[in-house]
Amino acid sequence: MIYLDNAATSFPKPLAVRRAMARALEYYGGNPGRGGHVLSQRVGEKIFTCRENASEFFGGWGPEYTVFTANATMALNMAILGTKKPGGHVVSTQFEHNSVLRPLAALERADGVAYTLVPPSLEDDAETVRRVEEAIRPNTYCVVCTHASNVCGRILPVGEIAALCRRRGLLCIVDASQSAGSLPIDMRALGIDLLCMAGHKGLMGAGGTGLLLLSPDVQVAPILFGGTGTNSNSVQQPEDYPERLESGTINTHGIISMDAGIGVLRAAPRYQEERRLAQQLYQGLRGIEKVELYCAFDPGRYVGIVPFNIRGRGSTEVANLLAAEGICVRGGLHCAPATHRYFGTQTRGMVRASVGYYTTAAEISSFVEAVRRLA
Ligand code: ALA
Repeated sequence: MIYLDNAATSFPKPLAVRRAMARALEYYGGNPGRGGHVLSQRVGEKIFTCRENASEFFGGWGPEYTVFTANATMALNMAILGTKKPGGHVVSTQFEHNSVLRPLAALERADGVAYTLVPPSLEDDAETVRRVEEAIRPNTYCVVCTHASNVCGRILPVGEIAALCRRRGLLCIVDASQSAGSLPIDMRALGIDLLCMAGHKGLMGAGGTGLLLLSPDVQVAPILFGGTGTNSNSVQQPEDYPERLESGTINTHGIISMDAGIGVLRAAPRYQEERRLAQQLYQGLRGIEKVELYCAFDPGRYVGIVPFNIRGRGSTEVANLLAAEGICVRGGLHCAPATHRYFGTQTRGMVRASVGYYTTAAEISSFVEAVRRLA
């Protein structure tokens, strides 16, 4: 099998991740913050360490400002809905996933929040920032921006966009689902207020994991209410983070697996290698007649994603034909319809090949040959 669907979820998971999760099921069996006994305390301490590690890895504001979520969608919903200003305006981009587009549409319906989706420039980051700035209105309160597109892999200038937000007094929410684990990220250095991401993609943790890291200056209202193991006598949600945003039993085993994935990345990141492999993939596909490419891959501007089509064939058809040969890629719209409108592929979709931590040059060569045969 050749797995090139790491943008959907990373596979295989590192041995350290699998071992950490298996051990968590055996050793960290209690519920953190829900008892004074040994199992609860043991897992409570472990989860605190996981918060510290995640915060350090992403230049966050410490363990209390590191919230575990079920996935990136939940983190983004919490960030976008929890900071809403009814009647206000949000600037976002056409490269957003439905986990941003749908909460924005829900805010528009329920709270009269208008939003503008800016088309990023593939060629010029300064132009992207200029378009974001031009879209700002007197009632704009927030910019939500993906760090890297899950469809085409283009990295957006989130540092410059965060600086613009600071100058204009706007909140800056970044979706790092496709960049976490593929690019170094320092949220404080970049000036990001709320950083949201999946734990099962580049961080190589189990499914059902995600992170929301926030700056202490931001007030995020909870969208989920319930037991936190603290202030149990009150029907009010606690004010303190992370409890304010973490109701219900958390996915301790998944979080421990994600922490092990972060440990692997800290010890041996493969940021450059992944992008070199994506470049090999792009160059290989570029040499095939009938292959249509959408972006000129450049390792300085893209994470390891290469979308393409074969002339005369549908993207899902091609993905299925490749699947029959044991090759895993994703066709269709990738839950990002606005990105496909941007590229004119809203009907046809694209075949997306995405490299990961364990992708090899030999796999890329075999993949290119498989596409050549199909084309
Ligand atoms: N958001 C994931 C993808 O792009 C699932 O495939």
